[in-house]
Amino acid sequence: MTTRPDKHDPDSLRTATRAVHVGNDIDRGSGAIRTPLVMANAYALPEDPSDIDWSGTDELIYTRNSGVNQLGLQARLAALEGGEEAVVLASGVAALHAVFFTLLRSGDHVVVADVTYEATWRLLSVLLPEKYGIEATFVDASDPDAIAAAIRPTTRLVHVETIGNPTTRVSDVAAAARIAHDAGALLSVDSTFTPPPLYRPLEDGADLVVHSLTKYINGHGDSLGGAVIGSHELIHRITSEAMVDVGGAISPFNAWLITRGSVTLPLRLARHLTSAQQVAEFLESQDRVALVEYPGLASHPQHELARRQFGGRGYGGVIAFALDATPEEHNRFVANLRVITSAVSLGHDESLIVYTGTDGPRVATYPEPFRRLGHLRLSIGLEDPEDLVEDLAAALSETFPRS
Ligand SMILES: Cc1ncc(COP(=O)(O)O)c(C=O)c1O
Repeated sequence: MTTRPDKHDPDSLRTATRAVHVGNDIDRGSGAIRTPLVMANAYALPEDPSDIDWSGTDELIYTRNSGVNQLGLQARLAALEGGEEAVVLASGVAALHAVFFTLLRSGDHVVVADVTYEATWRLLSVLLPEKYGIEATFVDASDPDAIAAAIRPTTRLVHVETIGNPTTRVSDVAAAARIAHDAGALLSVDSTFTPPPLYRPLEDGADLVVHSLTKYINGHGDSLGGAVIGSHELIHRITSEAMVDVGGAISPFNAWLITRGSVTLPLRLARHLTSAQQVAEFLESQDRVALVEYPGLASHPQHELARRQFGGRGYGGVIAFALDATPEEHNRFVANLRVITSAVSLGHDESLIVYTGTDGPRVATYPEPFRRLGHLRLSIGLEDPEDLVEDLAAALSETFPRS
């Protein structure tokens, strides 16, 4: 039986329609057809407030519990990821911390992908172990046997990134979910590199999906935000503990900006994916390029896993590559770019590149020659891909005039 699409019934809508309509409503006060930005930190109480649960998140009381713009964005993200509920927080790292803080106690053990965003690595390798006695084992999460071998009786959580930042190693989410669940643990998946409609980790068994909304979901490089999506029960716990009691709330303005940016996520993502494939293939054809790691290339070690896992829809918008060159030459190459901007972050409308150098505690987990040469992380934006290829080609010939 087919259901007639109805913008008030998210289940009846396809992804692009959800991105436009879910979480937006006619404003009852003014009749405006867009949910307005509500820059209030408190909401009017009823005449008799004695029944109010001051730490509750269902009623509009105080913006650290809930708010009009947060609620809209949460509804949209839950619909896009196919989860029961979502919570939005001040940044992607606040969202990651919210998961770890809520789910882990002293003595608990977590198995973590060894290629992850740097703050995830620091949280789980230094801060939470030193402060709270949480134990972590870092493994190659593309290898289910490595995940299984790291499980202990005290393992409560397995945490992976769909495509790992920065070197694009791909985690096997379905295998990680089976292993975690067999051990009585939960699986959280940072899907920042693979937002919907590219991938929905909950469909492969993840219990929680984490996003840095700062990246593709906002898409315009003008705000910070984070989200966790999952079951009512888990999201309620995370909201109460990490938002109401610890205070990681997002500002209404950032929630409004991200809601606005997310409308075009499916359209933008389609462009990021095709352009990244084109640029990765160009880079791989260049003599001066020592290695390109992009899951859409047949040469990528997890290309088959990525094709299966992401259903052939695409392979993300981030490319890691190294030049057969010194760190100084890498820096000169970046300085010679005239379209691509040297800056951290990713998933923006503009292409961004960052040279990570050869130092750092995690370099040992990177493939050779990234260990020796350092590498460049290139986030492909929405420019015409021909302009990006020409910019890279020109910067290569300016940096290496005789090659
Ligand atoms: C995969 C991933 N997760 C989390 C974060 C942290 O997000 P934020 O900068 O919004 O705190 C980042 C940031 O680059 C990231 O790439």
